[in-house]
Amino acid sequence: MLKAIKIFFNKTIKRQLIIAVVLTHAVMMSIFIFDITSNQEKFLHKQSLNQAINLTKTLSKNSTSWVLSDDYIGMEEIIESIALYPNLQYAMLLDKNSKVLAHTNNKYLNKYVSDKVSQKIITSNDEVLILVDNKYLIDVAVKVMRDSQHIAWARISISQDANVDVLNEVVQKGITYTLIAIILGSIFSYLLGVSLTNGLNNLIEVSKEHENGNKQKRANEERIDEIGTLSRQINTMFDSMQSSEKRIEKQREDSIKTEELLIKSRHLADMGEMIGNIAHQWRQPLSIISTYASGLLFNKSMGNLSDEHFEKSCKSIENNVQYLSTTIDDFRNFVKGDRIIEYFLISDMIDSYKSLTIGVYKSHDITLVLNLQDKLHMNGYRNELIQCLINISNNSKDAIIENDVNDGLIFISSYEENNNIIITIKDNALGIPSKIIDKIFEPYFTTKHKSQGTGIGLNMTYKFIVEGMSGTIVASNVSYKYENTDYKGALITITIPKI
Ligand SMILES: Nc1ncnc2c1ncn2[C@@H]1O[C@H](COP(=O)(O)OP(=O)(O)O)[C@@H](O)[C@H]1O
Ligand SMILES: [Mg+2]
Repeated sequence: MLKAIKIFFNKTIKRQLIIAVVLTHAVMMSIFIFDITSNQEKFLHKQSLNQAINLTKTLSKNSTSWVLSDDYIGMEEIIESIALYPNLQYAMLLDKNSKVLAHTNNKYLNKYVSDKVSQKIITSNDEVLILVDNKYLIDVAVKVMRDSQHIAWARISISQDANVDVLNEVVQKGITYTLIAIILGSIFSYLLGVSLTNGLNNLIEVSKEHENGNKQKRANEERIDEIGTLSRQINTMFDSMQSSEKRIEKQREDSIKTEELLIKSRHLADMGEMIGNIAHQWRQPLSIISTYASGLLFNKSMGNLSDEHFEKSCKSIENNVQYLSTTIDDFRNFVKGDRIIEYFLISDMIDSYKSLTIGVYKSHDITLVLNLQDKLHMNGYRNELIQCLINISNNSKDAIIENDVNDGLIFISSYEENNNIIITIKDNALGIPSKIIDKIFEPYFTTKHKSQGTGIGLNMTYKFIVEGMSGTIVASNVSYKYENTDYKGALITITIPKI
């Protein structure tokens, strides 16, 4: 209930203003009316009492000789002379025993006044006696004296009705003015409320529009008061919001572009690593072919070409061409491969990897040591996994060359553990410096010269394993013994859940 009243009064600013003004006016005007009427009442009453006393004193003085001479007609004339005094209820002359000697109303002549109030007269010693003094009536008695002898009473009563009327009129006027003040106050506060809330409503409307996506909408700035300042402030806020939204949008577009660029460069890196491998693989057979061909030419020109030598050379050239053709087929099959989930033997997959990389390792005297669990199958993206192994082992090869490691070693092992396929690649190239080991999977991170490194290989590998196969890839450094020699190198561990 109390809450409902509170809500009713506070619902709108207009309502709050009107209620505040009405209450203030009502309270202040009531206090004012009360104060003014009570003062007026006191003043009027005092004035009436004085008049009544003076009038009674005059009556007392003027009637002395008539009372002395028992002249009733004279007394009557004096009474009549004041009968027309405004608001006079009655005037009378009484003897000391309260017998009426003269009265504005004849029927009381010679009667005794014996009511309770009048009895005070008999017992009183005061010269001026106020018998009744209230809001409605004043009744005063004054002794009629001759020298110092008390011979009778003069008594007058005056009605206060006129004063009551005057006061009522004051109250009525007061109420009228209060009502006018309330009505005018309400109108003004209504108008003020409307003007205030118009400004605020405009702000509310603008912010709603913004919420609904109309970002161009701005608050009305015409006002010069605080609401105007607020509107300008809010507009400035909207402006900066809009510009920062634009900035964010631009950043988003930029990052999409960067991502696209990254994908493109990944493809290029992919091709780069491949072509590097092909080049290595082709170098030896090509140089064999070239040696045989120039040998044939030389022997022919010397007239020294035996049939046997010719046949042997041609056979060898043919074999090597055949080898070139097989390797190019291998690469083509690999590059063409679709991204489909296959069920494959890990050792088969490693064989393919070997045929794609063997040329490189041979040309740098690197030995590949395999330790593969027997008949280990898995479901997955075979070609991507081969690509990952190439990327990782090419880094080992690069490190072996860079650190001048003689007799480079690359160990690849695979096994199953806790329903995961684990593949590890280890080298003897002294390891990855600890201050960069946390960064090697980041895009474009490379420690190699621009012409050699792109910083994409491991990032691509990370994406394939973590995002493409829900696996993990971890790099660490290890020290180990192999064939009685101590080595140090990097160890990359790939874990792929079996599906
Ligand atoms: N086996 C490793 N031994 C030493 N450092 C390595 C090895 N593998 C990766 N790294 C470091 O990680 C970096 C990033 O490798 P990668 O993403 O393949 O880019 P890139 O080979 O183009 O430099 C390399 O530049 C190298 O510093
Ligand atoms: Mg690399």
